[in-house]
Amino acid sequence: MQRTAIPKLKHKNFISIAIMLALFFMSFLAVTNAEEGHCIWYGQCHTDQMGRSQNCYYTGEAKPLNGSGLEILARNCPHMMSNDVRTCCDVNQLETFDTNIKLAANFLARCPSCLDNLVKHLCEFTCSPKQSLFMNATQIEVNEDTNNTYVNAVDVFITNKYLQGTFTSCKKVSIPSLGQLALDVMCGDWGASRCTAERWFTFMGDSNNPYVPFQINYNGTDGKVGPFIPMDPEVTPCSKALNEKSPACSCVDCESSCPVPPPAPPLPTPFKLIGYDGIAVIMTIIFISGSSIFLMSIICFSNRKQIVARGEEVGRQVGRRLAAGLHHPGDVARIALAADQEDSPLQSKRSSTCSVC
Ligand SMILES: *[C@@H]1O[C@H](CO)[C@@H](O)[C@H](O)[C@H]1NC(C)=O
Ligand SMILES: *[C@@H]1O[C@H](CO)[C@@H](O)[C@H](O)[C@H]1NC(C)=O
Ligand SMILES: *[C@@H]1O[C@H](CO)[C@@H](O)[C@H](O)[C@H]1NC(C)=O
Ligand SMILES: *[C@@H]1O[C@H](CO)[C@@H](O)[C@H](O)[C@H]1NC(C)=O
Repeated sequence: MQRTAIPKLKHKNFISIAIMLALFFMSFLAVTNAEEGHCIWYGQCHTDQMGRSQNCYYTGEAKPLNGSGLEILARNCPHMMSNDVRTCCDVNQLETFDTNIKLAANFLARCPSCLDNLVKHLCEFTCSPKQSLFMNATQIEVNEDTNNTYVNAVDVFITNKYLQGTFTSCKKVSIPSLGQLALDVMCGDWGASRCTAERWFTFMGDSNNPYVPFQINYNGTDGKVGPFIPMDPEVTPCSKALNEKSPACSCVDCESSCPVPPPAPPLPTPFKLIGYDGIAVIMTIIFISGSSIFLMSIICFSNRKQIVARGEEVGRQVGRRLAAGLHHPGDVARIALAADQEDSPLQSKRSSTCSVC
């Protein structure tokens, strides 16, 4: 009995573990398939009248990159390098990419952080093996000569954080030889003074611009748009060094690199008494005591008036009695006693009402 029970138990365990493993890998595959993404283009399939190249429409997997393509990628996009580099861009695309970056560098190279921020999204845009996650080919044309399809317009979903951060890092970069800012040249009719992140990227994606090979619609967003997860390249502020070789941008090209004035002395902490504004408490106390003193003094003053009036009355009476005493000698003692009697109630009254005065 014992001998047969144990293998049975083991067998059961084995089956349940196998089922669990199978479920685990199935869900794992489902997740990775949904998250993986693929290319939307590979290679160049068309050249328009202005000599600009458009990329072939391709929705397969990224392909291995080698040779000179690898060298261009390593120079411009070090963050995309790994042992087995697979990209949605071929060598021809990377050569076009390199030319465009050199063009931008003419204006922005004074501030390496700014240039690097801008280049980062171009790396992803051109070569990312997961393009389909953040890009949609919205216009696909056929090359009449070869029957190849090519991409003539894309929507790019990208975080507002990246657009704004990159714009902020580049907006003050100057071109000393022209006495202008880079964005005077790179933001179209807006010029640097009226340029915004949105206007700048709109201009850089506008195919009416002879340097933009096809229409690129930058859709700034903070979250997913339909199936698209916005690309979110890392942004280095222009006041920060990119690496040991590239220092932070100078104050001339980067507002946040300029020395800040010494911080203002901290505001004195508000004066508090028993949890309330100290001044208000003191004012209230002064008001209450002031008005009590005022009322008290009115009471005291009116009593004193009476006292003074009574006093005068007593004086007159005493005077009269003294005068009468002249006619009746021996009355002096009685007068003195009377005056004393007159006086005593007053004094008692005074002490009772005005003990506080
Ligand atoms: C790059 O790799 C491809 C195969 O993937 C090969 O045909 C080609 O010759 C290689 N090019 C260079 C420059 O190594
Ligand atoms: C991609 O663009 C095409 C053409 O504009 C559109 O029909 C399609 O719905 C878009 N795809 C998604 C997933 O939004
Ligand atoms: C392109 O396709 C059309 C029709 O499908 C065909 O007649 C033509 O020969 C093709 N051209 C080339 C260059 O393959
Ligand atoms: C992306 O931006 C373009 C241009 O602003 C707009 O025409 C398009 O509808 C936007 N796409 C989405 C999915 O929001």
